Amino acid sequence: APPAPAQPPRRNESLLARGEKIYAQQCAWCHGDQGKGEPGAFPPLAGNRAVNLANPVNLVQVVRRGGYPPATEGNPRPYGMPPFGHVLSDEDIAAVLSYVRSSWGNTGAEVTLREVMQR
Ligand code: HEC
Repeated sequence: APPAPAQPPRRNESLLARGEKIYAQQCAWCHGDQGKGEPGAFPPLAGNRAVNLANPVNLVQVVRRGGYPPATEGNPRPYGMPPFGHVLSDEDIAAVLSYVRSSWGNTGAEVTLREVMQR
């Protein structure tokens, strides 16, 4: 018999639906409904290399702790990202990052609860 064709990884639809809802409530007002961000203020998440990296450790950190891009002469007071560690559970973080990594043409793998808990 011919070898079975490679199956694409099964999408965890309930996780992604949960992530979509969280994104709409907590993230879209800065990063945009379509993940396009806001030039000069909020980075795009669509087509963002960092968002699609195999290892999601930095994404988990930025969602938990927030962050500021470095201040520069041209942008001495950059907009920051608020921390969500007290708002979102580990499961919420896994869901929203999995949603972001599989939306708008992004191709990152799902972020598992285990990966979030290890950070
Ligand atoms: C108040 C505006 C704001 C909100 C709300 C917000 N962010 Fe951000 N986000 C930012 C800014 C500003 C940065 C850049 C921070 C930096 O460079 O350290 C950023 C960076 C990121 C990054 C890293 C991008 C990269 O290029 O490394 C990710 C991933 C991210 N945000 C996801 C989210 C998610 C998921 C949510 C919702 C839970 C969210 N953000 C909510 C403003 C926001």
